[in-house]
Amino acid sequence: MLRHLADGRFHSGEDIAGELGCSRTLVWQAVRVIQQDLGVTVFSVRGQGYRLVAPFEWLDVAAIRDGLDEAAADTFTLAVAERTDSTNSQLLARAASGGLHGLVLATELQTAGRGRLGRRWQARLGSGLTFSLLWRFDRGLSQLAGLSLAVGVALARTLRRLGAPVALKWPNDVLLNERKLAGILIELSGDALGPTAVVIGVGMNVSDPGEVDQPVACLAEAGVKLPRSALLAELLNELHRVLSDFDRHGFMPLRQEWMSLSAHQDAPVCLSFSHGEPVQGVARGVAESGALLVDTADGMKTYHAGEVSLRKLA
Ligand code: BTN
Repeated sequence: MLRHLADGRFHSGEDIAGELGCSRTLVWQAVRVIQQDLGVTVFSVRGQGYRLVAPFEWLDVAAIRDGLDEAAADTFTLAVAERTDSTNSQLLARAASGGLHGLVLATELQTAGRGRLGRRWQARLGSGLTFSLLWRFDRGLSQLAGLSLAVGVALARTLRRLGAPVALKWPNDVLLNERKLAGILIELSGDALGPTAVVIGVGMNVSDPGEVDQPVACLAEAGVKLPRSALLAELLNELHRVLSDFDRHGFMPLRQEWMSLSAHQDAPVCLSFSHGEPVQGVARGVAESGALLVDTADGMKTYHAGEVSLRKLA
């Protein structure tokens, strides 16, 4: 149904029913589902039919591939799912059964999108980019410290090049105008010494994501109007560069760049933990391991991403 309406023009219920081989009542029911469950607004005008409030541009594997540079095209195998539970869950399952290095899964709609610390990731259909990639490192788990910060650098480089003045929030959020634009969820399978399969999941608000449980920003605010397939290709090109460098040299060469992109460098911050009292101090950048350095009343402390969340103090 959505594919029929994607062009944003009017289509009569009769035409759609004819093309889909179903009744007009079923078309009408499908329109209700699109509006209520998927959050897409459909105009319904007597005598003219149905039309989307704005054209819907589907993610397209060929268009994504067109935007990849040679090295990225050699590495990434692309797939787009109309709907899935979580692209991270899907790729973790593939990782465990020998899935390819460089497998990328993007989706239009996640029904069980996951964030850090057990949170959900929500996005209205077509409003964002939701994808995961499977990367196999030769390094063991113990040498992957700082990976999520490295991924943040790749996203920030790309978005800044496209004209969005984003900043990074430790450990792995991308902010625009001090609100969350994108989140990164990295999940690992492997052992401490041997090769490690890593699933890197990214959720990004391209246009207004609809009702979500925190203040968010979207790329449209910064005037970035690239089609989502082209945007995904740009992100994958930069991720390919950064992950290849990370594989060889770790986080160290990216540390200064991360700090220059940090939204909270030398700013007063408050850290909260799942257990224990919050800590206040001044953010002083990150260590080579990607741990956050905070100047507190008890001296300089180091915090690892695990169960910590950070907020800026007014
Ligand atoms: C966070 O901000 O806490 C991280 C959000 C990560 C969301 C992405 S969307 C694609 C991938 N699949 C998931 O289930 N989560 C990540």
